[in-house]
Amino acid sequence: MKVNIMNHPLITHKVTMMRDKNTNPKDFRELLKEISLLMAFEVTRDLPLAETEIETPLKKITAKVMGGRSIGVVPILRAGLGMVDGILELVPSAKIGHIGCYRDPQTLKPVEYYCKLPVDVEQRTVILVDPMLATGGSASMAIDFIKQRGVTDIKFMCLIAAPEGVKVLNERHPDVEIYAAALDDCLNEHAYIVPGLGDAGDRLFGTK
Ligand code: PRP
Ligand code: URA
Repeated sequence: MKVNIMNHPLITHKVTMMRDKNTNPKDFRELLKEISLLMAFEVTRDLPLAETEIETPLKKITAKVMGGRSIGVVPILRAGLGMVDGILELVPSAKIGHIGCYRDPQTLKPVEYYCKLPVDVEQRTVILVDPMLATGGSASMAIDFIKQRGVTDIKFMCLIAAPEGVKVLNERHPDVEIYAAALDDCLNEHAYIVPGLGDAGDRLFGTK
């Protein structure tokens, strides 16, 4: 099973606060944004650098700046929206796409309802974001859409992953690196992550 777990006390502390059922939507949103920013630092670690000529007050030098591929951030609606602003604070030039899908409560299979990606998405490194990787159905479907548009460099960033979802994603998309703040125990009979944090979209937007 291939997944990068963020072992950082700040992230772990914030995830615990998000798991707490007494955390209100305002705090939940703020924590998700903060964790996303911290995780983006790690997810972008291997981005290529290019050389440029600059002059410091003392001399002319060749120095490194971000080069190569630009970034695209693609949240899976709804809950992925809560992760976008944190990443944008680190990478303000990123273009944003959106993929809408929800899990049918009976079949637990993802149903797609929206897909709008940047026009030059195939030239970008795409960071696909969704707080929850449960069965892996939603993330797999979203990656299918992104690959159909010609994207070859995709990273998936989530808050909590279930082993079942990691396995499915590794099997269907072995080229996609997974980053998670926590790897939980299992799924329950309704395919909710245990211990998890409940329904991420409802907690983020206060819809339940
Ligand atoms: C949640 C979550 C993921 C999906 C994960 O969304 O945000 O998109 O479930 O489950 P999976 O790995 O089993 O596919 P949900 O379907 O509840 O939609 P919502 O964000 O609109 O509430
Ligand atoms: N979607 C969620 O929001 N939470 C889970 O635990 C599983 C899927």
